[in-house]
Amino acid sequence: MTDPDIHKGLAGVVVDTTTISSVNPQTNSLLYRGYPVQELAAHCSFEEVAYLLWHGELPTADELVAFEALERSLRTLDDRTRRAIDDVPVTAHPMDALRTAVSQLGGLDTTLQQPDGILDPALNDGRAVYLLAQLPSIVAYIQRRGRGLEPVEPRDDLDFSRNFLWMTFGELPDDVVVDAFRVSLVLYAEHSFNASTFTARVIASTLSDVYSAVTGAIGALKGPLHGGANEAVMHAFAEIGSADNAETWLDTALAEKRKIMGFGHRVYKNGDSRVPTMRSALERLVEHYDRADMLALYDALENAMAARKNIKPNLDYPSGPAYSLMGFDTETFTPLFAAARITGWTAHIFEQYAANSLIRPLSQYTGPEERHLER
Ligand code: SDX
Repeated sequence: MTDPDIHKGLAGVVVDTTTISSVNPQTNSLLYRGYPVQELAAHCSFEEVAYLLWHGELPTADELVAFEALERSLRTLDDRTRRAIDDVPVTAHPMDALRTAVSQLGGLDTTLQQPDGILDPALNDGRAVYLLAQLPSIVAYIQRRGRGLEPVEPRDDLDFSRNFLWMTFGELPDDVVVDAFRVSLVLYAEHSFNASTFTARVIASTLSDVYSAVTGAIGALKGPLHGGANEAVMHAFAEIGSADNAETWLDTALAEKRKIMGFGHRVYKNGDSRVPTMRSALERLVEHYDRADMLALYDALENAMAARKNIKPNLDYPSGPAYSLMGFDTETFTPLFAAARITGWTAHIFEQYAANSLIRPLSQYTGPEERHLER
């Protein structure tokens, strides 16, 4: 008899408090440190949102200038990090190379060996900005390596979003593209105790270091039930081909008991609060690139899914086609998610350090009764 107190997947279980964000399915809302994410996406840079998640308040003008200067000074990759990435087979998934690169950053951080070097708040504040600055350089390096292209060095005259696109494509895209990209980063930044963030918190709860916690979070995010869904959305679009095939494709997929990537959510049951904002950004990209066919397919599959399963899209559904229109390789989509979520991950890691409580749930044993060797 399974214990009725068992909540598989921790569904619906509140395991701790947090002051970082509030995900409210009743009001279909998401607040970062009290601010609605829609307002932040409309009015703030990604740097401002990162600062807010870490420090609890938006930066003053002077604080923002200093923060931007610090982040821009930390973007260049160490040759040893590049070599660690180069040692990963180019056929491996980019999330594997990203995971390896972050692990290498930890190996290179000699301050971890200082007394209290792992938990020192000042050192960790610096590490968070360092990770924020390094991930775009790593993600861009990995995509260009996969295309057989030389890396593009970061530019300290560009803001975070624009520099990320510069390093990836070697050219500066139009403002409409930069802004849609910024919106996606703000929306992906934080989402309370999702699987990858909770993974990071479990690792941090043992008082392990921030790089180990982020490496674990990257592993969790790769999964198609979590961050890997934005990539999988485009694989589905490729299978469907055009809008008029959406219903037939969906009927077949559902008959095969497939999960339709980009749809459903463990917490939001009446739609993901972030989707309307990201869909608006997608619409601007569709107009910019004259790709009405992409939006027609998007709408056809969403409508078919609503009619058959009454399951609504999550953020990964509009993000996938948006990143595709921006020119990113499909396998780069989840690394982009990681480059945004590094802010939420690190904020939660530091909150877990402050809580100073090991995460260790119980299990109900249902294996063989006690028995003994017959020797
Ligand atoms: C993210 O947690 C977060 O906050 C995550 C995230 C973040 O910002 O960190 O929001 C990012 O990970 C978004 C989710 C991305 N994943 C996907 O798009 C993958 C497809 N989605 C499903 O795998 C599913 O919806 C989950 C995993 C996201 C949530 O699943 P739940 O809450 O465990 O619900 P369930 O799997 O128990 O489904 C309930 C029913 C089932 O039907 P029955 O077996 O009861 O008949 O709904 C069905 C499911 O089969 N269902 C789906 C479906 N999602 C749910 N059926 C087909 N396709 C789907 N996408």
